[in-house]
Amino acid sequence: MCGIVGYIGDGSAKEIIISGLKSLEYRGYDSAGIALHRGGKLLLRKESGVIANLEKRITKKDFDGNLGIGHTRWATHGAPIRENAHPHMSCDGRIAIVHNGIIENYMELKAWLVKNHDVEFKSETDSEVIAQLICVYYKDDLVAAVRKAVARMRGAYAVGVISADDPDHIVAVRKDAPLIAGIGEGCNYLASDIPALLRYTRDIYLIENDETVIISKDDIKIFDGDMTRVKREKMHVTWDAAAAVKGGYEHFMKKEIYEQPEAVNKTLEGRINAKGEVKLDGIKLTKKELDAINRIYIVACGTAYHAGMQGKEVIEGFARIPTEVDLASEFRYRKPIVDSNTLFICISQSGETSDTIEAMREAKRKGARILSICNVVGSSVTRESDDVLYTWAGPEIAVASTKAYTTQLVCLFLLALYMGRARGTLLPKEYKRIVDELKKLPAKLTEALGTDEHVAKLAKKFSVREQIFYIGRGSDVGTSYEASLKLKEISYINSFAIAAGELKHGTIALINRGTLFIVFATQDYLYEKMLSNIEEIKARHAYVIAVAKKGNTRVGKISDDTIMIPECADEVASILAVVPMQLFAYHIAKLRKRDIDKPRNLAKSVTVE
Ligand code: F6R
Repeated sequence: MCGIVGYIGDGSAKEIIISGLKSLEYRGYDSAGIALHRGGKLLLRKESGVIANLEKRITKKDFDGNLGIGHTRWATHGAPIRENAHPHMSCDGRIAIVHNGIIENYMELKAWLVKNHDVEFKSETDSEVIAQLICVYYKDDLVAAVRKAVARMRGAYAVGVISADDPDHIVAVRKDAPLIAGIGEGCNYLASDIPALLRYTRDIYLIENDETVIISKDDIKIFDGDMTRVKREKMHVTWDAAAAVKGGYEHFMKKEIYEQPEAVNKTLEGRINAKGEVKLDGIKLTKKELDAINRIYIVACGTAYHAGMQGKEVIEGFARIPTEVDLASEFRYRKPIVDSNTLFICISQSGETSDTIEAMREAKRKGARILSICNVVGSSVTRESDDVLYTWAGPEIAVASTKAYTTQLVCLFLLALYMGRARGTLLPKEYKRIVDELKKLPAKLTEALGTDEHVAKLAKKFSVREQIFYIGRGSDVGTSYEASLKLKEISYINSFAIAAGELKHGTIALINRGTLFIVFATQDYLYEKMLSNIEEIKARHAYVIAVAKKGNTRVGKISDDTIMIPECADEVASILAVVPMQLFAYHIAKLRKRDIDKPRNLAKSVTVE
């Protein structure tokens, strides 16, 4: 989720690159750097933290040139420290690269480079292998060396490359990560995103997968995977910068809801091997250690806590270990029973939530093993954990969490499968069935996003309501809680979630004629029970919108409206059912003219108690 900017021309590459990188701040970053060509050498400056830190280091006139590449990094492999910031240089200092994406086989390439070419690596990143590989293949043709290196790389990438030997070109390649070339007058540009260039040009070429682009001061040449020259129409950008940063969406929340298929794909990537086995890179728990665990606490706040509610179901179901879910703000002040046989699973998007960190420290003091599920590399939570499972959702900008939640659920599923398999509590057939369901999720999430238009119509019908109830059973309870939180935090409507079976023990007294209930009936084994719940509230004249799997038509006959999610196994329905609910909250908030990305009284990272 990083930003790339490159420039070649007569202007100050330093200034143009810095300004471009600043326009990409919305992508999220934790370090920045620039490499420039000057006098037959490559000059490099990089710094952790904000771009201003980098600017302080490059004020001198001798750090400038007419050709350069820059990068803002959002840490994936390796902590957000200066050494891991891009650009990365080859050992001999003659090649510099910037990279967005993940090189899946970097360990294998690294081992090969160390063994056969005595390469000494300076960073913990996957990206550095690209610079070293190009250097190994470089004789006198930079493009050929880049192509050879790319042929050995697996994963996703947009890479910009410069060489000390070539004062006239930037070479770039892409696969599954965005890349564009900008057309200037007597100068040209490279960038990961359009907003980076809007101050300088509105004419661009979109670079496609497997293409190579060679950029000089006066020319941009694009080649396909076979190095055949490609003719590309230039695109003239007419949108303003504000629209461009949101990728054409009106709000970051909407953009992030729509990013869920891709985010889940990234979470799964590299974690299910060709044999269909779950392999978790950051988890060092051995079978012996797993067998010794007799209690699990899942501790988190807000949306992450709701993910934990689902986590309890799958961990108990697959791994058969008693699991409790607790709010971090409560856990830290009660007297939980924790010892060295306890596994403490902490879930946090930001990794900086004060209550979660303190709860984790408390469990650690008592001897628990700490495993975190987190989205931000190098955050406090990850630094203090024994094992880390990254969600790889990319930066989440909107305060209301969406893609972080669905990727947390996927991580919990992967973890439960891993534990169930290692402990022998999950039958191979069941294991395979769930793995297959997980693999289908990105496509099914796209299908679930297809409910948008229908959900927008429902939102219009109910946007003036001041009270909405959400009910469900099994994993639908967690979905009810999360759907309700989404609605209240961005629309400011009073909503309430409760386990459907609990309704009759008090809350049912609140039903008036027309009271709106959103009823989840996604669990086949609880379907009949939910139909009875619907009858129960309909008898009291409530208005019911049911959320069910396609094909379950009976629910439609007794409800006032329905929202259908894709057919799927019960276990993964929660990951799909939440999508229309995020959209419902979004549309209602929009109709009520709320500040959707920054709701009142809320902060993205809650670092106070
Ligand atoms: C709601 C939301 C919050 C967070 C909570 C924990 O949309 O975003 O409820 O889930 O503050 O934050 P993290 O996950 O960063 O620990």
